[in-house]
Amino acid sequence: MEKVKLNNGVEMPCIGLGVFRIEDNNEAQRVVETALKVGYRHIDTAMYYHNEEAVGKGIKNSGIPREEIFVTTKMWNADQRSGKVKEAFEASLKKLGLEYIDLYLIHWPVEGKFIDTWKKFEEIYHSGKVKAIGVSNFKPHHLEALAKEQTIVPAVNQIELHPYLIQEDTLDYCKKAGIQVEAWSQFAANQLGLFDEKVLKDLSDKYSKSPAQIILRWDYQRGVVTIPKSANEERMKQNLDIFDFSLTEEEITAINSLNKNKRVGPDPDHVDF
Ligand SMILES: NC(=O)c1ccc[n+]([C@@H]2O[C@H](COP(=O)([O-])OP(=O)(O)OC[C@H]3O[C@@H](n4cnc5c(N)ncnc54)[C@H](OP(=O)(O)O)[C@@H]3O)[C@@H](O)[C@H]2O)c1
Repeated sequence: MEKVKLNNGVEMPCIGLGVFRIEDNNEAQRVVETALKVGYRHIDTAMYYHNEEAVGKGIKNSGIPREEIFVTTKMWNADQRSGKVKEAFEASLKKLGLEYIDLYLIHWPVEGKFIDTWKKFEEIYHSGKVKAIGVSNFKPHHLEALAKEQTIVPAVNQIELHPYLIQEDTLDYCKKAGIQVEAWSQFAANQLGLFDEKVLKDLSDKYSKSPAQIILRWDYQRGVVTIPKSANEERMKQNLDIFDFSLTEEEITAINSLNKNKRVGPDPDHVDF
């Protein structure tokens, strides 16, 4: 598995498995065990997904050494609002049954709170219980506000990103600031009919790859880490199999031109949940 180096030297596998909307604990554990069996070494969960315990069990049952697996979890908005940041972190650690987390993210930029939260994240980082800290759903203006107060630059910004929402501004900002961009809902969660786009179908025919693989390759060539969710073993394998072909610059531009600035998730400027 190819890796990217984060701004503090920590290495992160370019593709991970997302486990959002898998709340049944047995199913979540099965999915994680299957993913690790077929070659995943990066799992993306969150307190909000209610499956950290199952993810931890899946990791333990896999028999793969802990240090070979990159585990991300995220702090939920209610814990930012209550200021119980360290308590939330400890709760995630306990549920996962791990001694450290590879990447801990602020899930959403809760207005009036995210800077104070980040200061506590910096303390958690210094405690050594997390290898890297980052943010999620931050627009450039959130990152600019944070930059005025931070002593640690976020290692990662995990954002909604797919061919209908190509996020050029945030990508440019993060590249300049040394922040790794990671895409969520890279297939628009299979809700917007992205796989039926002619551009993707034509490239799929040309390279004998699925539209999903074309999207993941487009991300990879734009320097974006991806965490496709799949509960299906064959699709899990497919989503890892993107390193034996290459899109041309023109093809990347053609995919970029699908952009409609259309989201499947909330707009980070309205975090009222
Ligand atoms: N930070 C945030 O705020 C945030 C928000 C949302 C999500 N996330 C993270 O991002 C991860 C991914 O996003 P997502 O779960 O919203 O959606 P996604 O990965 O864009 O799409 C998942 C959907 O695509 C299907 N799929 C997967 N691989 C496929 C393939 N090769 N061909 C055809 N269909 C395929 C899956 O079905 P099957 O399972 O049946 O294969 C599922 O229905 C989440 O699991 C979560 O970890 C983060």
